Order: sequence, then structure tokens, then C-alpha cells
Amino acid sequence: MNNIQILIVDYGSQYTLVIGRILRELGVRSLILPPKKVDEWLKNNTPKAVILSGSNFSVHQKGAPELPKLLGIALHKSHEVKSKYQILGICYGMQLLAHKLGGKVARPLAHREYGPSIVTLDTKHPLFAGVTKKTEVWASHGDTVIKLPKGFASIATSEGIAAMSNKDNRVLGIQFHPEVVDTKEGRKILQNFLELSKCEKDWNPTDLIHQIQKEVLDIVNKDGNKKNVVLGVSGGVDSTTLSAILAPVLGKRLFCVAIDTGGLREGELSELKANMKSVLSQERFLRKANLVVIDASEEFVKNIGKTIDGEEKRAKFREIYQKIFEEQIKKHNAGFIAQGTLATDIIESGKAGKSAMIKTHHNVGLKWKVEDLHPLRNLFKYEVRELARVLRLPSAISERNPFPGPGLYLRVVGAPVSKENIELVREADKTVADILKKHNLNKNISQLIVALLGVNSVGVKGDERVYGHSLAVRAVQTSDFMTAKGYYFPEEVMNEITSALTKHKNIVRVFFDMTPKPPATTEFE
Ligand code: XMP
Repeated sequence: MNNIQILIVDYGSQYTLVIGRILRELGVRSLILPPKKVDEWLKNNTPKAVILSGSNFSVHQKGAPELPKLLGIALHKSHEVKSKYQILGICYGMQLLAHKLGGKVARPLAHREYGPSIVTLDTKHPLFAGVTKKTEVWASHGDTVIKLPKGFASIATSEGIAAMSNKDNRVLGIQFHPEVVDTKEGRKILQNFLELSKCEKDWNPTDLIHQIQKEVLDIVNKDGNKKNVVLGVSGGVDSTTLSAILAPVLGKRLFCVAIDTGGLREGELSELKANMKSVLSQERFLRKANLVVIDASEEFVKNIGKTIDGEEKRAKFREIYQKIFEEQIKKHNAGFIAQGTLATDIIESGKAGKSAMIKTHHNVGLKWKVEDLHPLRNLFKYEVRELARVLRLPSAISERNPFPGPGLYLRVVGAPVSKENIELVREADKTVADILKKHNLNKNISQLIVALLGVNSVGVKGDERVYGHSLAVRAVQTSDFMTAKGYYFPEEVMNEITSALTKHKNIVRVFFDMTPKPPATTEFE
């Protein structure tokens, strides 16, 4: 494989991994590193360009992350800024460049921008070539560059300076986020940056599958190791695709372990078994991998049953999940545990760079007795789907909507996750899913969430007062689950869902939730 052409310095923005994803979509691989590791890497590597990400820090804050020393941006006597690499600072990245090169960064109230905003671009600048002069962008910043460093010119404006460039166009900064889909022409801007950097296309999914296989084989075979590998499978696209990547190279050494946690949806376990069998028994695999299914539903319900707090539920779920896997690792003489953890799971658990912790994902950050492998850790859902298609997995897998590991335990909100409550959401989820299927609406929706809310309210059924539960129905549209839009159901579908759900004797009210992410998250907790 070619050398990495683009280095992304991760200052902890929620969107850093999205930058990497868009570059891959544009055909270019990149490497994401926290600022502290950059100098060491640059000693041995020569990327063509460096992107400095956003951050939740202000440049004026104590402990704010710095520009790596070896970036080689220098201010010459003539006030000309010269740079060894093609540089693009995004949001905090731009502010840091301005701050370090003699400009001024401040927090003027009037210039704070959160969400959509219109910028006016200098379309003669190569970064904005072919982009509409007045274009909609996604901004999310309190600090702003209020004075440019010497030798820089403003190349875009909104409420204030929205982008800057030095004279030879080597050092660029943009205040908004080109990587977020809500920046309408962001992809074109990044494409222009790749051209300015003279990057060649060097990424494709088939290469990536081979790279993952090689990476895993190198680890599990090191020092002549012949230990087995336990892979946690849930029936979802990530773990199933990972099993299809690993099964041909690990064969009998691979033990795909699925757990019935009691939080699965209607029919999910039998689907999982059928899907895994079809993946693992493909004729082209000479040595068949193993599938093990464990029924632990009683144990999960018994331990999580009375919990109401979302993070506490996840903590208990993780504990039992890990205990069962440790037992399986021992039983199958495994030296490794592999999981289908994605970049999104890592970011949201606060483990990438310095991003703020949003949710503890059940499979991130666990300490195992054996080495743990997350071969999909740099990928987004849509990329894993691409790998699944290349692997010719059935569309029931490659196009499958996600479902959280802790399952229906996360869908009983503000009430104990008793067996009865879980059964109630399971039934409700099936009812809504069937209605959506009937109206052929599945293709519009990235994920459906039906949750029981722990707020009882008064209703009337058959002329009698009922004091019963409420259900929330939420469907979202998203490409990477970092941001999402609430889906508006057609009115007749809303009525059909409400009427079907309130047939249950204890359900008196149905709420529809269209809140986008942010500020909400996809799940209710
Ligand atoms: P949020 O709610 O954070 O969810 O916007 C983003 C995506 O992640 C799923 N999710 C989880 N998946 N363990 C998982 O395996 C978890 O603890 C967890 N929490 C959320 C969620 O369903 C959505 O697809």
C-alpha cells in the first residue's frame, strides 16, 4: 500500500473521523493521530497534507492542545508564511493557526455560530473553485479569528472571517465544517483541498478487506501463536461483516459467539442464526469457522431488571457481557477477543482523541484477560456496508438497520427494565416495524426506536379511566449516526401506528419524536 498522503491531527472534535470518511469516499486514505503522537510519526513519514481538526477547547484555555512542532510552518522576515506540508485548519485548527502565527482569536458574542449559516466565498481561491459564491455551511464555534496573521488574506466571510489563506495557498483555514453533510458543498471543498495537495486515489474496499485480514493475522500468529479467536456477533452488519472477513483466514480458529441477552427484538435470534450460518458456510471457505449461541436472557434480566439509569444499565450489561465472553474465551482456548466496534462507538465513548464522552458503548474500553481486537475501529457504518457488499453478503445483512448491543434494555426509559416492560416494547417494536414494512417506508429510515416511557398518564378506554404507559416512536435518517434527522411519518401512518399501539390495555398515549441529533441522540439513553 502507498504511504499515507493525509494526516489528520485530532484535536477532539466530534467530527474528526467524519473527515477521514469523506476523504476515503473521495478515494484517499488518511491517518488520524492525537496531537501528541504527531511529531513522532512525522519523523518517519512524509504526508502530502495535514488537516487540523476542530476541538471543544478554546486556544486561550489552559491545556489547549498545541500545533505539533514538526509541522514546519514558519514565519519569514518578509511576513511570508511557508509550510512544509499543505495545511488545512478546520474550526479550532484555523483558530490555532491564526493564534500561533500572530493573528487574534476572541469570543465576540455576535459572532458565535451554531448550526446552519451562509458564507460568502472568494471563488477565485483554488479551495473554493467550482463552489457557489453564497453557500450554506455548518458552523459550531464560540471563538472566532478576529484578526488575521500577517501574510494571510480572508477568503470567506459570514458574521466575521470564515476562511483564510497565506500567499502561496499552502496554509489554509476554514471556520466552518466542510466534513458535515449540512455543509452543502463541503465535499467539493475537500476535493479541492485534495487537488491542491496533489493527492492520488489510493483507497478501495477490497484493499481494505485484505488489509484487515493481514492486520489480524499478523497479530494472532505472532511468535508462532496458534491460539483461537473469539468474535462477538450480534447479527448486525458490523459483527457479521467482520465474521465474513475473518472466517476465510482463520477458519476453525474462529469462534463466533452470539448471546441471547433477553433484549433482542422479535424473531431476531432465529434471523441471527440463519444469517451467520449462511455467512460461515459459504463454499469458498475451506475450513469452516464455528458458531456458538448462548442463552443468557435470565441472567441479564435478573441483573439489570430494576435499573432505571441509562449508564448504570450499560455498566451492568457490560459486566455480564464480559463475564460470558471470558467464559467462552477460556472454553475455546482463545488468545484473542475480536469485536465489530466502529469509529462512531469509539468517538461516542470518548475514547478517540479528546472527544467528550457521550455514551459508554457496551463493547468499548473493556479490559480483557486476553488481547482485544477492534479491526473495524476506523470505519463508519456506511463503509462497513460497502465491505459487506464487496463480500457479496445478502442485502438483509449489508443494508440492515443498526440495533444497540444492550438492545431493548435501552428502550425502557425511566422505568425498571422488567421482563413485562421488555415484552411490551418488543411487541410494540414489532407492531410499528410491520406497519412501516407494509407502507414500504423502511427504505427512508436509518433506524427505528420504539421506547416505553416511564411516565404514566390518564386515558379513557371503553368509557373507563385508565392510568397507563406512554410509548415514544422515533425514526431517524442519517448516514453515519454522528448527526441524524428525525423522520416525519405521513399522517395516515402516524394514525395507524397510534391506533395499533393503543390497542394494548396499558398503553394510553403515543408520542412521536422528531428531534435531530444533536441536540438529541438516536436512542433515548
Ligand atoms: P446514539 O443514541 O448515541 O446512537 O445517537 C448511535 C448509534 O449507536 C447505537 N447505540 C449503541 N450500540 N451499544 C451499541 O452497540 C450501545 O451501548 C449503544 N448505544 C447506542 C444506536 O442504536 C445508534 O445506532
